[in-house]
Amino acid sequence: MKLKKKEQTTICLTVNGRRYVESVEPRKLLSDFLREDCGLTGTHVGCEHGVCGACTILLNGSAVRSCLLFAVQVDGAEIRTVEGLDTEGHLNPLQEAFSEHHALQCGFCTPGILLSASELLEYNPHPTTEEIEEMLSGHLCRCTGYKGIVKAIEKVANRNPKFTHES
Ligand code: FES
Ligand code: FES
Repeated sequence: MKLKKKEQTTICLTVNGRRYVESVEPRKLLSDFLREDCGLTGTHVGCEHGVCGACTILLNGSAVRSCLLFAVQVDGAEIRTVEGLDTEGHLNPLQEAFSEHHALQCGFCTPGILLSASELLEYNPHPTTEEIEEMLSGHLCRCTGYKGIVKAIEKVANRNPKFTHES
């Protein structure tokens, strides 16, 4: 029996500042595209149903679940994954604060939370504890109890010049 060749679509997008032009199957999930085609395995896949938040990435600056999108849907988009958060090999302030406050244990949930927290601080530089907790309600963490995560985000909101009232 002759197998039918799988249909492919070419997409062009920018991930962490790097341009990719790739052929993908129309049914390929964005999370799988990032991990398999771009080699960016920091985007974790847990539930694949939009529930756990582990696969969260920034799509044109907005936090979205990459397991709920097909790669072909983000043709032309700008994407940031956890690999694009550090600055020239150094941890960014959020990553440092997570380390200082023991905001991660196994780390499975961490990339997605870091990206959602980045979006929160970008649009709301001084979130209340309740607003941070509301953001975290979209992320499941089996390990930390969330307290260290909240403290880490609060610390960045209070100390990073980018996020001060004066800026
Ligand atoms: S893997 Fe996407 S939300 Fe859980
Ligand atoms: S640190 Fe293990 S799931 Fe969050």
